[in-house]
Amino acid sequence: MNIMTFNTNEELNQIGAGIVASLIQTKPNAVLGLATGSSPIGIYQELIRLYEKGYVSFKNVHSYNLDEYVGLPEGHPETYRSFMNTQLFNHVDINKDNTRVPDGNAADLEAECKQYDAALAQASIDIQFLGIGHNGHIGFNEPDQQLHGGTHVVQLKDETRQANARFFDSIDQVPTQAVTMGVGSILKAKMILLIGRGAEKADIIHRALTGPITTEVPASLLQTHPNVVVLLDKEAAQKFND
Ligand code: F6R
Repeated sequence: MNIMTFNTNEELNQIGAGIVASLIQTKPNAVLGLATGSSPIGIYQELIRLYEKGYVSFKNVHSYNLDEYVGLPEGHPETYRSFMNTQLFNHVDINKDNTRVPDGNAADLEAECKQYDAALAQASIDIQFLGIGHNGHIGFNEPDQQLHGGTHVVQLKDETRQANARFFDSIDQVPTQAVTMGVGSILKAKMILLIGRGAEKADIIHRALTGPITTEVPASLLQTHPNVVVLLDKEAAQKFND
């Protein structure tokens, strides 16, 4: 595991975007596994800047997002599809037909999960972006006695709904369920880019990366992956210096 700590968010974003842009330069039809939330935004902004400067093209890139809320109306600004369009896809030359986000409004969610897994099985993700929840979740794989390998519907924990309430007018509006890629699919990515920002993530990041491997801290499973790059700002990295 390669853990990099940065003094500024700007440097973190530049290195993160550089890793992804180099991959796309050498493999124009790279497959990206994408995350939403606040952690990847700065890297997406830097990728947009690199695209605008002509250093990288997303024309042949394919992408699969980790997760999507269940039941938010299509076009709602907090759906993860809207997030991806606003934060990245609308600003680069990616073909939106080549971008997939689970459909949280599918009439048959179980069938949607199966279709997503079938697509992932064909795809082989080159780089998987990940943030980490305060409780150690990755995607929406919440701490539990057992974890799912494949895509599934999950009941969001109260702490996750509370953490995400900042994006909604009130906690009541935060969906209670989501569709998420499973830990098995995440661990199949050739490379994982885990991003951690802020002091409030310091403890869980340290536990996940150095503590016991346990389904109660889903991100701890990343310790079993051979190619994880961790990008931390200095606040999120502070427990590594204790
Ligand atoms: C987002 C996702 C989540 C977030 C995590 C951290 O697609 O799957 O696991 O990465 O909740 O969220 P932020 O980055 O907002 O702290």
